[in-house]
Amino acid sequence: MDTVSMDELYRRALAAAEAAYAPYSRFRVGAALLAEDGAVFLGCNVENRSYGLTVCAERSAVFKGVSEGRRRFTALAIATPDSFHPVGPCGACRQVLSEFMPPDAPVRFGGSSGEKVDTTIGVLYPYDSLHDLA
Ligand code: THU
Repeated sequence: MDTVSMDELYRRALAAAEAAYAPYSRFRVGAALLAEDGAVFLGCNVENRSYGLTVCAERSAVFKGVSEGRRRFTALAIATPDSFHPVGPCGACRQVLSEFMPPDAPVRFGGSSGEKVDTTIGVLYPYDSLHDLA
């Protein structure tokens, strides 16, 4: 499968935000996660009336990919169309992402302003024991 550019991955994350189930926060999040073999897994946040059961877009994408047999992901884009500024993944998602992504994997996130942040998993989640011990 052809590899997908960060621009394309971001477009797919933005489209994925349309599926967000976010009636409580009204804050939609979309994620697009590129697997090593070129497959792209989309995620959106899924809220619940028992608020703490909410799953973020990023973990939703990881769990879809892993449940479809992938263990290694090479890039991630996150779109938060309801925020003006770019919003990065939450702490819990950084931990989960770091389990399945190498530290140099690119991550792009952006809000409605058009500004994008380009960084890596290693910057978002440094000194990760999994990679340090590997
Ligand atoms: N959310 C995500 O999906 N990903 C993030 O990285 C930040 C937060 C969701 C959780 C909740 O549904 C809404 O955004 C507001 O926090």
